[in-house]
Amino acid sequence: LNYRVPRTRKEIFETLVKGLQRLEYRGYDSAGVGVDGPKKNDSGDTSKTFLIKKRGKVKALVEELYKNDSTDLETVMDTHFGIAHTRWATHGEPSAVNCHPQRSDKNNEFIVIHNGIVTNYKELRKYLISKGYDFESETDTEVIPKLIKYVYDNRENDYVSFSTLVELVIQQLEGAFALVFKSVHFPGEAVATRRGSPLLIGVRSKYELSTEQIPIQYNSNAHFFEGVQQRNFRNRVDSTLALHSVSDRKAVEFYFASDASAIIEHTNKVIYLQDDDIAAVAEGKLSLHRMSRCAGEDPVRAIQTLQMELQQIMKGNFKAFMQKEIFEQPESVFNTMRGRICFDTNTVVLGGLKDHLKEIKRCRRLILIGCGTSFHAGLATRQILEELTELPVMVELASDFLDRITPVFRDDVCFLISQSGETADTLMALHYCQGRGALTVGVTNTVGSSISRETDCGVHINAGPEIGVASTKAYTSQFVALTMFGLMMSEDRISLQKRRLEIINGLRILPGLIKEVLTLDDQIRSVADELYQQRSLLVMGRGYNYATCLEGALKIKEITYMHSEGILAGELKHGPLALIDKHMPVIMIIMKDACYTKCHNALQQVTARQGRPIILCCQDDPEITKNAYKTIELPQTVDCLQGIISVIPLQLMSFHLAVLRGYDVDCPRNLAKSVTVE
Ligand code: G6P
Repeated sequence: LNYRVPRTRKEIFETLVKGLQRLEYRGYDSAGVGVDGPKKNDSGDTSKTFLIKKRGKVKALVEELYKNDSTDLETVMDTHFGIAHTRWATHGEPSAVNCHPQRSDKNNEFIVIHNGIVTNYKELRKYLISKGYDFESETDTEVIPKLIKYVYDNRENDYVSFSTLVELVIQQLEGAFALVFKSVHFPGEAVATRRGSPLLIGVRSKYELSTEQIPIQYNSNAHFFEGVQQRNFRNRVDSTLALHSVSDRKAVEFYFASDASAIIEHTNKVIYLQDDDIAAVAEGKLSLHRMSRCAGEDPVRAIQTLQMELQQIMKGNFKAFMQKEIFEQPESVFNTMRGRICFDTNTVVLGGLKDHLKEIKRCRRLILIGCGTSFHAGLATRQILEELTELPVMVELASDFLDRITPVFRDDVCFLISQSGETADTLMALHYCQGRGALTVGVTNTVGSSISRETDCGVHINAGPEIGVASTKAYTSQFVALTMFGLMMSEDRISLQKRRLEIINGLRILPGLIKEVLTLDDQIRSVADELYQQRSLLVMGRGYNYATCLEGALKIKEITYMHSEGILAGELKHGPLALIDKHMPVIMIIMKDACYTKCHNALQQVTARQGRPIILCCQDDPEITKNAYKTIELPQTVDCLQGIISVIPLQLMSFHLAVLRGYDVDCPRNLAKSVTVE
């Protein structure tokens, strides 16, 4: 929302589209914008809102935008509020009509963009249909603009503020949402709100904003109808407070976004909204409202300064973000350790956990919870955490953990592992654990994300922004962070000092070993050349490398669309052996660790059935080379860190397979980087 300097329509489109492109990793099956019409009516207000929506990626929307508006692109607009959205379908197939903004009616009186799910949309839809509203999409979102129009049309007072209307609407919504509303009845005004889904406000001003605190207005006047029927709501005295230094309406531009990457090139000053906050901007002034104050609640929202730099999120010379992120791993794992490990004293200090360490040491067990790759990071470090903490460690997929209504106790410590810090299932698991009084620890890569804010304490893995949907550097950094936690827990255990020292030395040389693995890229590409037309690819291993197999197989299925399965070698004879013949490609991970002999047995069983294994093994292992169809030789490290080294060839393999198969590596079909819906 711009109050700052007059902008042409073209500049407004560019800002919106750029923001969408930066958010595309959250979903990208369709996209849309809602902007004011180019012409002003007699009173000077823009009289119409235009919606331009398109199935496909943001690029398709851009083509449509310039096609439709080529003649009006230079029109100058001094106040303008535009909204845009990129969608990842939950309700209703990807199509122009299902994508956002959704609208109240054919005149676009109210339009809305939404991230999340309205779970009671069926009842609301039925009610609104009974009131004569026609629905055009299959989305849950469409009830929101219809409901706000209904509330507006049935208002008793002529004056009702935009934020009051929004407040009345969200009282009727169940589920999760981040919403931004635009209306022809409130030109140049913006209202945004959230519950469960992330939303932040960027503020760009010519004045210094660093220490600003925005007071919350508590509104007890607005109340809504029973069900949706009663129309007896009163108007709130909308005592909007200005940002103290920003009373000059020409001085400020506001950005609402699901995350900072969309706005970071305009401003690094942001306010994170909390659940049920309503943010309204009118006449260059921002006000924040809530229904009523709860005990212990913070009555202000602070403007924070983000440190993220734009070039951090650019692709550089790489073909894809994923490839760039794979090659960044020497630095990203180093950044995870930086300032936390003292190699002289062999101590590890994770600043975000140190005040809770005593409590953690007294706990009954550790529960590691995550989804996808973050779950695998928990699996990969389970054994070393059991060894170093001498505690039972459970590793849980967030969705299954919730489905089972897993018993959690006050003396449990629950780790919520999430690159984005926004994954809905993991966030719900966090709330579940909090509800049972457990101590919660966030392991995230996103400062300011919901999980990092809502957990009792935590570790930032500091891997830098990860854009490619298939997670790579976040996995290795999660791995390192969790291992460091184990080292921190075992500092005073005399019997474990030798082991600790071995691991700390392993961590010291880890970035160098990763660099060495990355030099195998050409060799891995030539193996991919042989494999890319296959339909299926098995990845087999055990012990410390079982998680590597699952993670490698996940990478392959995510971006190459080949069927791929991670198999525990110990389970081979209990089923998977039936799949083996001379046609089935098998990758085996056989490192020199406690499982070496057992893995060797599995290899014999595979070769006895004419299988042609491609083996990830240690350098100089003639015994393995003899039985392999091909080998990829890796540097050897401490057993519990070997998974960091052995996952990298599989990341590279999946990348090359996807390129050879002609797929978009960073945006695999049907997947999103940050899954903020259940
Ligand atoms: C999505 C992504 C995966 C990711 C998972 C968990 O499914 O496509 O790559 O591993 O979410 O994400 P998180 O941000 O919680 O680590």
